[in-house]
Amino acid sequence: MKTIGFIGCGNMGRAMVEGIMKANLVDGDHMIVSNAHPERLSELSEIYDCYISDNESVAKNSDIVVLAIKPYLYKEVITSIKDIVKDDVIIINIAAGISTQDVVEMFGRKVKTVKAMPNTPAMVQEAMSALSFSDNCDQDDKEDVIAIFESFGQCREVEERLMDAVMVVSGSSPAYIFMVLEAMADGAVMQGLPRNDAYAFAAQAMIGSAKMMLETGKHPGELKDMVCSPAGTTIEAVAKMEEMGLRSAIIEGMRACANRGKEMSKK
Ligand SMILES: NC(=O)c1ccc[n+]([C@@H]2O[C@H](COP(=O)([O-])OP(=O)(O)OC[C@H]3O[C@@H](n4cnc5c(N)ncnc54)[C@H](OP(=O)(O)O)[C@@H]3O)[C@@H](O)[C@H]2O)c1
Repeated sequence: MKTIGFIGCGNMGRAMVEGIMKANLVDGDHMIVSNAHPERLSELSEIYDCYISDNESVAKNSDIVVLAIKPYLYKEVITSIKDIVKDDVIIINIAAGISTQDVVEMFGRKVKTVKAMPNTPAMVQEAMSALSFSDNCDQDDKEDVIAIFESFGQCREVEERLMDAVMVVSGSSPAYIFMVLEAMADGAVMQGLPRNDAYAFAAQAMIGSAKMMLETGKHPGELKDMVCSPAGTTIEAVAKMEEMGLRSAIIEGMRACANRGKEMSKK
């Protein structure tokens, strides 16, 4: 069993650790986690019986190290661990705007590295992650890393140049999906439904619709048309949402997200 280490365990790191532990991919002896404020992880270590330690110990003892820290901390943290990681370590970089080339330069050698873009539904084993492997990762390395990402959802290999596109549609998208869910619940509350019921109906409609699209393979426009009876209620909602710019609000929001990713990668 390989040892997986996490440096940084905030929103994304914790979702991944919880996903891996819930799936029993490794036992607590093979999961080491560090954080700026380790006391915030005491509940995590109690639930999953994993080690909470410092960055140095994660670096020395892990076969695979996930850097789940903010992008601006990569240089500082890599400088402090580059000489103590295992020779054959695999570094998983999940940061927006940090490329494989950046990681290799920060390490000062051609370390095995994976550029990955997960999302927070990892916490409930429903992440969708993109992976791009450096060319020195062999088949076994790839299988080990894919097993990690499949333990908390699905993953796909993509070219690294497409990672910003994945970030806008997957890494960042839970935020806008929750905004839509909140707005849908508000709309139902306005019509008299209790809030808890409204969240349950809205969330299940989101899950069901997404599953329907994936399982039928039908175009989303066709599935939308199936709900819109002539002169009915749904087409009124669709027409009003078009008038209010729902689609362009989403597309422009995603463009802003991608632009920010590009800005971050220039620094
Ligand atoms: N959030 C997402 O949905 C998402 C999706 C895809 C990719 N990402 C990427 O994931 C990375 C982390 O994002 P996040 O949203 O999880 O951020 P976050 O919630 O702020 O978590 C970052 C964690 O790093 C810890 N930390 C700070 N300095 C550290 C240090 N020197 N050594 C060890 N740990 C340190 C922080 O500890 P304290 O809290 O104790 O200060 C915090 O727990 C980012 O690079 C981001 O681009 C995030």
